[in-house]
Amino acid sequence: MVRRPTEAGYEAAPNIALVKYWGVRDEDLGLPYNSSLSVTLNHLRSRTWVQFDPTLTEDRFLLGRDEQTDGPLRSVVEFLDEVRALGRFETHAFVRSENNFQTASGLASSASGFAALAGAASLAAGLKLSPPALSRLARLGSGSACRSLFGGFVEWRAGTRADGRDCFARPLFPARHWPGLVDLVALVKDAPTKPIRSAVAMQRTVATSPLYAQRLREVPRRIRAMKRAIAVRDAPALFDRTMEECDSFRSVCESTEPTLDYLVPASRRVLAEVRAANEENGTSVAGYTHDAGAHIHVFTTTTHSARLRRRLGAVPGVEKVLVLSPGPGGRPLRRWGR
Ligand code: DP6
Repeated sequence: MVRRPTEAGYEAAPNIALVKYWGVRDEDLGLPYNSSLSVTLNHLRSRTWVQFDPTLTEDRFLLGRDEQTDGPLRSVVEFLDEVRALGRFETHAFVRSENNFQTASGLASSASGFAALAGAASLAAGLKLSPPALSRLARLGSGSACRSLFGGFVEWRAGTRADGRDCFARPLFPARHWPGLVDLVALVKDAPTKPIRSAVAMQRTVATSPLYAQRLREVPRRIRAMKRAIAVRDAPALFDRTMEECDSFRSVCESTEPTLDYLVPASRRVLAEVRAANEENGTSVAGYTHDAGAHIHVFTTTTHSARLRRRLGAVPGVEKVLVLSPGPGGRPLRRWGR
């Protein structure tokens, strides 16, 4: 039982997967079929404050200025239930969260949001969790959130245990490992909001895509190749593997019944523009990827980023191009509400 109000804040950034998490082997525990690899981004962030308060009769969740009900509130309550179970208390909480970017815009707000909630709620509950334990907790909110706790290049190992104890993310290289790496995010106009949660969509792929088994066989090799490319900062190798992986992800989505098509025509024009730039340069100067959304992340290096940014910005249907880089991991916020 928490007797006095106890509170804490935490911030975390979205991450973009270079090797995608897609398919769950245990839905209750959120255990994936395959390991995944991501880059945590700078500039974008979610900040969350949690106050456990014995005078509350139910949990409350404020996102920006809006009191949340239904689905968003339910997922926060379910997550708080996990925290209360870990801490063996029942006190309700007031949760306040804000993103410095549009929520559900296809920029992984669930990853940064649940990473920030895991950090804030576990601190407010007085749980002293190790980084793997905090990552396992965040995973219960949203799979990709377990990677957003760490900065730079991050690997989420699928693990093999039935109880999920070996299923958590860990940092591979810090953001400063590769100072010249840039992520140009081409934000497309009229990007549709996600019709269903990725955790649900991916299970349809597992059940129906004829290409899924082959994808699972390829992923470990791709992760090894990607880790080698990152270790020696081999940009063309990283870009080639990133596009190959994104194409594999898109094929399993498109061959799902009913099909999963996350892109809009402008997204496909961005993919074509990146292929054309690589062709013209005779080597890969950039590599595209996308998640379950229409915006396209284009990795490149500082040598090519200004020119490529102009080029992507001129693609019909592209509204804006963000210039991001690998960024820091999650961190506690000192003062309530700051
Ligand atoms: C395509 O972890 O965001 O972005 O559990 O529904 O929140 P939910 O799913 P989530 O799925 C991520 C899917 C992906 C690939 C990835 O980030 O690895």
